[in-house]
Amino acid sequence: MGFPALIVAAGSGQRLGAGGPKALVPLCGRPLYAWSVDAFRVARSVDRVIVVVPPGKADEFTEPGIETVDGGEVRSESVANGLRHLASGGSGDLIVVHDAARPLVTPDLVDAAVEALQSAPDLDAVIAAAQVTDTIKRVGRDGTVEETLDRSVLISVQTPQVFRLGALERAIETGDLVAATDDASLIEAAGGSVGVIEAPSGNIKVTVPGDLDLAARLLEPDN
Ligand code: CTP
Ligand code: MG
Repeated sequence: MGFPALIVAAGSGQRLGAGGPKALVPLCGRPLYAWSVDAFRVARSVDRVIVVVPPGKADEFTEPGIETVDGGEVRSESVANGLRHLASGGSGDLIVVHDAARPLVTPDLVDAAVEALQSAPDLDAVIAAAQVTDTIKRVGRDGTVEETLDRSVLISVQTPQVFRLGALERAIETGDLVAATDDASLIEAAGGSVGVIEAPSGNIKVTVPGDLDLAARLLEPDN
């Protein structure tokens, strides 16, 4: 059985600075978001792909087979809009959330995250993440180092993130959507349990222009 997926693509892409929505920026000849749509189409665990788009731009999201819904001011509001859209269309008990800004996501990672949550009844969510390899320090307001953190217990969080639908709906209802940079933090704040699955190193996020070049090299290494 397949579950619905929300690909959040409603951001403006300020840091990329392309002069338009990041999700529509060309990457190896196709809009950035289309690469994620491809992976979710292939993933066996997904049967419905909803792309959350910048308000007024739905016409420009033309990948076949997708549904579109307008996003909100901040990322978690975009996810909330996607959930409301789902509620009107019926759904299973899990939902996958992914950032369009991660075009190298693989169908295997999506399926593995879904399977990990299905096989862990005590968890409310499973998120893709990488072990931190840099040494991380906490700095004060004046920019000087206050503390070196224990790297062995730190992970760098990515998407896809898979949720029990009811848990995510409740967490979004009660959470601080403006402060949240991912949806799992809303689950944590609501007292829920979040598991982790190791992501492949290629699952990079396109944030600044150099990331777009790196993503292009990873997608088409021979060019
Ligand atoms: N996103 C969204 N709705 C928002 C803000 C962000 O759907 N109101 C999505 C983006 O489209 C992106 C993902 O959340 O796929 C991660 O956000 P980020 O990388 O910060 O993208 P942008 O917000 O577009 O970029 P920036 O912060 O540089 O403006
Ligand atoms: Mg942003």
